[in-house]
Amino acid sequence: MALLEVNQLRKDFGGLRAVSDLSFRLEAGQILGLIGPNGAGKTTAFNLMAGFIPATSGEVRLDGENVVGLRPHAIVRRGIARTFQIVKPFRKLTVLENVTLAAFLREPVRARAAAAARSILALLDLAGKADCDASDLTLGQQKRLEIARCLATRPKLLFLDEPMGGLNPTEVEAACELVQKLSDSGITVILVEHHMRAIMKISDRVVVLHHGVKIADDAPADVVRNPAVVKAYLGEGAA
Ligand SMILES: Nc1ncnc2c1ncn2[C@@H]1O[C@H](COP(=O)(O)OP(=O)(O)OP(=O)(O)O)[C@@H](O)[C@H]1O
Ligand SMILES: [Mg+2]
Repeated sequence: MALLEVNQLRKDFGGLRAVSDLSFRLEAGQILGLIGPNGAGKTTAFNLMAGFIPATSGEVRLDGENVVGLRPHAIVRRGIARTFQIVKPFRKLTVLENVTLAAFLREPVRARAAAAARSILALLDLAGKADCDASDLTLGQQKRLEIARCLATRPKLLFLDEPMGGLNPTEVEAACELVQKLSDSGITVILVEHHMRAIMKISDRVVVLHHGVKIADDAPADVVRNPAVVKAYLGEGAA
């Protein structure tokens, strides 16, 4: 059984079909790249799958069980975590407090939740920032804090919404290594990104959305050569 199976998922905003009968499957352990032009429906797809907005129709099956209709906290408990394209830490809390709050989902004892949070901060190279206010971090550090908060909920499936957006090339490289490391640790990942080199390097498979419609679902090397994808998104000379 696939870890994630999305069937005919649809979202209408008034007259706009932002996600149009999207279907795909994802096996445990894979990294799936989700790409497409601005407004293609990538973030909306994340919002639907994580329960942040109600679907118009369709199914999202995690381990065979439909989670459409569940609230975000219930979906997190089942093992789906997501970052936000625009980072959303609790700005007045410290970095450690932000991650500890998320860790409470699995670990009600405060000292243990804080210990789990500290080990996650170390993994994300944020140990030295534990006692800083979240608002004092650089953008790159705030993006890692978003991921740290997700990891604290011990996800099986992690949705990353443009974790490399606004980062410099060195930080992008480090983010690629981090995603690979998370994958190696057993977390299944869906990665939305506009950094094509990063996506193509680390994804096992790539799904392409255009006006809410899936126009390709293939290995990276095939996606970059797909004429419909080149026309809609990548432009000539991308391959
Ligand atoms: N809450 C909303 N109400 C109305 N329309 C919305 C809402 N959220 C998104 N949309 C519209 O749905 C479409 C898909 O938007 P979405 O944010 O999912 O795109 P995206 O692929 O994530 O784009 P980007 O790469 O710019 O982040 C866009 O036309 C957007 O304007
Ligand atoms: Mg988006």
